[in-house]
Amino acid sequence: MCGIVGYVGDDAAPKILVEGLNRLAYRGYDSAGHALMNGSGIKIFKDVGSPEHIGQVVMKEKVMANSGISHTRWATHGGVTPSNSHPHLSNCGRIALVHNGVIENFVTLRNRLQQTGVTFHSETDTEVLCNLIASYYEDFRSEGHEDAFLHSVFAALREVKGSYGIAVMCGDQPGRIITARLGSSLVLGIGNGENMVASDAAAFCGRTNNIVYLDDGQVACLTGKDFEIFNLDNERVAAEICEVQSEHQEYERGDFPHFMLKEIFEQPEALRNSMRGRFSSDNSTTKFGGLNLEAKDLRRINRILFMGCGTAWHACLLAKYIIEKLARIPVDVEYASELRYRNAPIPDNTLVFVISQSGETADTLEALREMKRKGFETLAITNVVGSTIAHEAGGGIYQHVGPEIGVASTKAFSSQVLLTTMVGVFLGRLRDLSMSEGMRLVKGMQELPDKIVQVLQKASELEALAKKYAEYNDFLFLGRQMMFPLALEGALKLKEISYIHAEGYPAAEMKHGPLALVSPTCPSLFIAPEDEMIDKVASNIQEVKARGGPVIVITTEGSPLCDQEGIDVIAIPQTCESLMPILASIPLQLFSYYAAVARGCNVDRPRNLAKSVTVE
Ligand code: AGP
Repeated sequence: MCGIVGYVGDDAAPKILVEGLNRLAYRGYDSAGHALMNGSGIKIFKDVGSPEHIGQVVMKEKVMANSGISHTRWATHGGVTPSNSHPHLSNCGRIALVHNGVIENFVTLRNRLQQTGVTFHSETDTEVLCNLIASYYEDFRSEGHEDAFLHSVFAALREVKGSYGIAVMCGDQPGRIITARLGSSLVLGIGNGENMVASDAAAFCGRTNNIVYLDDGQVACLTGKDFEIFNLDNERVAAEICEVQSEHQEYERGDFPHFMLKEIFEQPEALRNSMRGRFSSDNSTTKFGGLNLEAKDLRRINRILFMGCGTAWHACLLAKYIIEKLARIPVDVEYASELRYRNAPIPDNTLVFVISQSGETADTLEALREMKRKGFETLAITNVVGSTIAHEAGGGIYQHVGPEIGVASTKAFSSQVLLTTMVGVFLGRLRDLSMSEGMRLVKGMQELPDKIVQVLQKASELEALAKKYAEYNDFLFLGRQMMFPLALEGALKLKEISYIHAEGYPAAEMKHGPLALVSPTCPSLFIAPEDEMIDKVASNIQEVKARGGPVIVITTEGSPLCDQEGIDVIAIPQTCESLMPILASIPLQLFSYYAAVARGCNVDRPRNLAKSVTVE
């Protein structure tokens, strides 16, 4: 996912832009750049590589500038080359642009511009948009238009098809940035004598907590003193300034070597924040402020559909097991990327939930739009306030776990599973879940953070285990019932950050094929708490051991598996069955983290991956 930062104000722009762009590096990048407005026009610095790299180049140049725009690129149109990186400068040298999104009709526009003599130096759709704005600017300027710059942006955006989040500067108008969004999130940071724009508020943390969420189809003009918002018909739009409580340290690693480890250890507090204010006064059920659905509407729901991507999809699959158990409502689970094209026959009175940490995943967003188009009630579970999915769903639940910077999702996943369990209790208590059962589950949730602390205290055990298994190149993750989706998640965690090939299966599936993979070079990790399945899993473990397969078991303290010879055991505390997936996910996170560290992998920014996939 690309990142945008813009600054205009009284302070030195380069340092603010460099720091802001570095904070967006977690979104994924392959190149980065800055356009700075100094006394004699626009100066561009850009290159392949990290924002930190180009930031050092900029700071060495000691450019005096009070405004600028910056970008981290994750290549869509055109290869990873310096010329394809942003910012782009128009042929005439007056317009600089950074862009997130995809301009679908860029070839037609480029051909038209080339016929007017424009030459292109990159393969990108962004350079076309930059020169389209410049073309209109030259025309309007020669006609003496009162605001040629703003109207050239309007005119160009009315022509493009596709999605954009842009920030634009004009060399003739220092101290002014124009920004606009359609399908790619942008927030304004409103400061004292300065204003900013960014793809997410992380970029201006520590400078301002006053945020304006730009809506699709809106255009904002920023100066150091003021900001105005328009729609594409040049009509002023009222702006709502929200105060967000994001602190500096949320975006810093602190004493941790990686964001992922920090976020694993944040989970006790993160889950407390997810639960805060969401239990009834008698602790017999849960409550949510943002569902926008009355109890009578929810009682009419006779089916629920969960959809998401990646780890969020694993949370959806867990939601099926948990909500069907607690609320006795049938739950369907879909990959958002599949559902959006499948035209599935979905029964009336189906409630649609989307799960997305970033709230910007393209496939999830488009699947949500498809469900809304067909008239379904939609709710989102997401972690980013004001994200596009949060904005477009009919209602929802914010996770409140703080920014998740590591590409591998940890605290966001456990929070998603907790919140879907809370939804299960909420819906169940509107039906036939008893008060005593509701109270037992609520008590279990309230005790969960302390139990997670106990599991985190076993980090050194997991580190030793991970080092022992780090050199294997194949792994099976196995579990039954609610532990099956967790097996899928454990396999994803390991593969995405350590690059070890790992697959998750229902443990009972071993005999139907995966057992052929078992050998001394392919370990099997079983997630097997002491529940009604443990005897079945114990025999699966014997099947693996009998074929020389190394075995790791995550089980509960005191379970019969703790005393088994010849296997590696991680024992965790007991908790309610519906909450066990959350607790058992912690050792899986730690195991994959330490395995990746042992293999020297880039844990927070694994190869080929981005934190949020905002393009298809
Ligand atoms: C999780 O470890 C992965 N980084 C990835 O699968 C992620 O869960 C997926 O891309 C969905 O992201 P979202 O929750 O922001 O929509």
